[in-house]
Formats: sequence, C-alpha cells, structure tokens
Amino acid sequence: MMQPTNKSSVNRRQFLQHSGSLAAGAAVLGSLPPTLFAAGDDTIRLALIGCGGRGTGAVGDALSVPKGGPIKLYAMADLNEKRMEAQRKALQEKFQDKIDVAEDRKFVGFQAYRQAIDCLRPGDVALCTTRAYIRAVHVEYAIRKGINVFMEKPFASDPGGLHRLLRAGEEAEKKGVKVAAGLQCRHSPARQALIEKIREGAMGEIPLIRANRFGGGGGLGNQRENANKLLSQLEFGKIHLLWVGSGHMVDNLIHQIDECCYWDQMMKSRFQFCDDLDDLNYDSPVPVKADQNGQFPVPIPGQWTEV
Ligand SMILES: NC(=O)c1ccc[n+]([C@@H]2O[C@H](COP(=O)([O-])OP(=O)(O)OC[C@H]3O[C@@H](n4cnc5c(N)ncnc54)[C@H](O)[C@@H]3O)[C@@H](O)[C@H]2O)c1
Repeated sequence: MMQPTNKSSVNRRQFLQHSGSLAAGAAVLGSLPPTLFAAGDDTIRLALIGCGGRGTGAVGDALSVPKGGPIKLYAMADLNEKRMEAQRKALQEKFQDKIDVAEDRKFVGFQAYRQAIDCLRPGDVALCTTRAYIRAVHVEYAIRKGINVFMEKPFASDPGGLHRLLRAGEEAEKKGVKVAAGLQCRHSPARQALIEKIREGAMGEIPLIRANRFGGGGGLGNQRENANKLLSQLEFGKIHLLWVGSGHMVDNLIHQIDECCYWDQMMKSRFQFCDDLDDLNYDSPVPVKADQNGQFPVPIPGQWTEV
C-alpha cells in the first residue's frame, strides 16, 4: 500500500482515498495506523444502509479492527424503523461510544440511503447491506460523493444493475475511492494457502472444477393478500424472489462460484506455459463435448469443465 509522504497533511480518510490497494472493509480500516495522522478530525464515519443481520455484523467487523484508530457508526438507513432501532440498541450495548447515531441521523424509507450518505465526508465508509435489488443505486451514489464502500454480495439481481455497478467501479478507480465486496473466501489465509499448494502442483493437473453447496432455503408458502405488495415482497422474497435478492442459487452459491473463478484464474496462469494447451481460448467459454453416442462425459448441469 502506498505510504503518504507528508504525514501531517494527510488524514486517515484521505489516506484511504490515496492508497493503491483494494481490500475488504475491515482490512481497509485495519491498514490505517491509529496515531499516524493527527491533523484535523481523524475519525472515520460509517453509514449503515440496510440494518439486517449482515449489516449489523459488518458494523461489528469494522469497529473491531485491532488498532484501527478512531471510527464510529454515524448514520443508519432502513425501510423498517423498528428493526433499525433494535439493531442500533444492540450495537450500542456492545460498542458503546463507537455508536454515535443521533436521532437526526436515523433515516427511514427509499430515500434514506441518500440522507445517510450525505452525513459522511469524502473518505468515510458506506456499508451497503440491503438485498441485491437496489445495491447498484446505493453504491453509485456513495462513489459519486467520494465515499468508500463495503458492499455485500450478491451485487445486483439483473444485468442492468451489474452494468451500473461496473460503471460505478470505473468512476471509483478514477477518484481513488475504494470498493470492497463481501466475498470473504478470497481473504481467507487458509484458502489462499490451499490454492497456492494447488498452484504448485500438489494435486497434479486439474481437469475439472465443480462446486457444490449443501443446504436449502425451504419452499415459499402461499403469501395470500401480501403476495403482490412491494414491501411484503421485500420481506418474504429475500431468497425466493429473483428480483429481490437474486434467488437462492446466486445468493448462496455465489461464494463457491467465486472460488471457482479464483481457481480458474490460477489455472489460466499455469496453463499458459503448457505447449499442448496453447490453442485453448480461455477468454470464451469452452463447450462440453458429447461423445460418439451423444452422451456428455459428466452430465451435470451448470458445471464448468474443460475437455
Ligand atoms: N458474505 C456473506 O457471507 C453474507 C452472509 C449473510 C448475508 N449476506 C448478504 O448480505 C445482504 C444482507 O443480508 P441480511 O441477512 O442482513 O438481509 P436482511 O434482508 O435481513 O436485511 C436487509 C435490510 O435492508 C433493509 N432494506 C431493504 N431495502 C432497503 C432500502 N431500499 N433502503 C434501506 N434499507 C433497505 C431491510 O429492511 C432489512 O432491514 C444480502 O445481500 C445477503 O446475501 C452475505
């Protein structure tokens, strides 16, 4: 990570803006020396947008960074006032004066994200932890205002949202704003060590990567009169409605898909030195080939494979 040359003229928020690395929210905060930048108000403010279990957990992670320097939860936004207040109380009990959310910095409704982000200063951090349906809108606004972002997965529930996020990512890069994502497998030292071993050839040639995730979200029961109410859909459709959270497969399997991508990148870098595989084009999907009888060698839908 780039080090500032003039310590007295750079505060911790500016340090985040000018540093060169992209890291997870807690890791970004953990990289800041607590006493290095004394000038001005050094405190990093957090705005929590989407106060469910994961959002509250993300606040806990950020506030628990060892030797992280001054940081506080400063604003909150949600559609559900009762839930937001319950989470604020629970956080206050645990983190005491690190929770500084005055009455006029608690916001409710679909515009609440803007109001919470408007309480921050450039270089502070917005935690975007609603369900995926609205993520791009929130992240885009934060980046426009020069605010660093921690965003949970999944990132959008349709291609339009994903394209919007990609454009926002380009703007973030130009501005030096950091965006970290909740795909934590990439930050696991154990996973990194495992992948390094495989890279070194401990498992020999890898012809197939396949991801399984065991578990179930349960069926979606009859919602009766609530079925077509927007706010009700946001509650009962978190996992079940594609437009809300991306659906069970993406919401849950995304970690394994991410690991396959991580491994696949690793394999590409190894394969590019193998003569006999030179003609494979890794930039486009390689179709699975059927045998002479029309049978596929490993008939598992959705797998990624090389033949
Ligand atoms: N990385 C991980 O391992 C991990 C683990 C759990 C959850 N998650 C992800 O984190 C996200 C949140 O999960 P959760 O379990 O806390 O969800 P949740 O549905 O329980 O909470 C989301 C909160 O956002 C609020 N909200 C919805 N729309 C809003 C809007 N427009 N503006 C402001 N607030 C709004 C809801 O009222 C709710 O309080 C999901 O995308 C989920 O997939 C990631």
